[in-house]
Amino acid sequence: MQLRIALVLLLSVATHAANSTCFPLGGAKFSGSKPSMDRNDWWCGNDRMYGFLGFSYPMEEGCGSSTSYDHISKDMQRMKKDYGATFVRTYLTTCRDVSVYKNLVKAGRDNNMGVIPMLFWDFGPNDKLMKQAENALLAVFQDAEVGKFAPYVIHSVAFGDELGEEGQYWMKPFNDLKAKLAKYGVPLTISDDWDRGEYKSGNSLSNWGKQVRDAVALTHVHIQGYYHPGAVPNARAHFNYLKGQVNFMKNNNIKRPYIISQTLWTSGKGGHAFRGNVDNMDNFSAFWNDMQNNCQYFKQEKVSYFFHAWSDGGEAPLGLLKNNGQAKISFRPQRC
Ligand SMILES: *[C@@H]1O[C@H](CO)[C@@H](O)[C@H](O)[C@H]1NC(C)=O
Ligand SMILES: *[C@@H]1O[C@H](CO)[C@@H](O)[C@H](O)[C@H]1NC(C)=O
Repeated sequence: MQLRIALVLLLSVATHAANSTCFPLGGAKFSGSKPSMDRNDWWCGNDRMYGFLGFSYPMEEGCGSSTSYDHISKDMQRMKKDYGATFVRTYLTTCRDVSVYKNLVKAGRDNNMGVIPMLFWDFGPNDKLMKQAENALLAVFQDAEVGKFAPYVIHSVAFGDELGEEGQYWMKPFNDLKAKLAKYGVPLTISDDWDRGEYKSGNSLSNWGKQVRDAVALTHVHIQGYYHPGAVPNARAHFNYLKGQVNFMKNNNIKRPYIISQTLWTSGKGGHAFRGNVDNMDNFSAFWNDMQNNCQYFKQEKVSYFFHAWSDGGEAPLGLLKNNGQAKISFRPQRC
């Protein structure tokens, strides 16, 4: 009897320890071998997923030096050291070869960072590229060197970018891939803005929106008031808009965790900028200061976010870093 009580106590202590040392927000670290615990006990739970997670990392140059281990690992080190990032989210991954996933998993493991890859084919149907992207990702789980680490580095996967603009053809391939990834315990979702006509009907979800909500395993949401000028006249108005979007998700039972995979403002003209008068550093600074200063809101609502984007390369003028590698603003969100 006493032995039993001792065992129960020991077990509950062990469970608690596992939680407080969860990956990658709770201090759990790779030790060289695959973690002995189940994947679900390794990752931090939804209650810990709040505030700044890391950067949206453009990978728009195909396979090459920018997808090498050294390049990725060096960027991860800077993201972590200078900004406190714990995750990286790939954006428009145009390398569709297993090498990019091997390098991401290895670099994530070696730097103790979680990885959220985006599978990308095109801004429209392209079955051939879609399959290539899927096969490249799936192969990493079978890789002799890093396969066993992959489920402990890859948190979740985004299927495409802003599929709201691509109709409904993708639901079947989405579900097929979801079933394949389930073998490794890795959840699949899409990365999109719920504030668009395809998903919404008044203050509720449309029928299609409900189908998408039910299909995805968690939420990678784009809260991008920049693209909703009517609702968000300038950066100062953005945070209220963000809160409204979070309330919409809560009211419509959209699945947690809520990860804002894309949120952004422009720092100047050209590139992705199209609004003219609000495309300036004043708005850019105000936007990111609001994100940093609302730590308590993110904690209370259990909402986390990525900075879109790490650098201007391909994403100008949205990046934190200019093309010369210097940061445009001082950004160091505290974890509250
Ligand atoms: C630890 O994690 C488990 C499963 O994730 C959860 O049910 C439990 O409530 C957590 N315990 C603590 C003390 O946080
Ligand atoms: C944004 O830009 C507009 C137009 O230049 C300006 O009036 C406003 O003060 C700027 N700053 C913020 C924080 O909105």
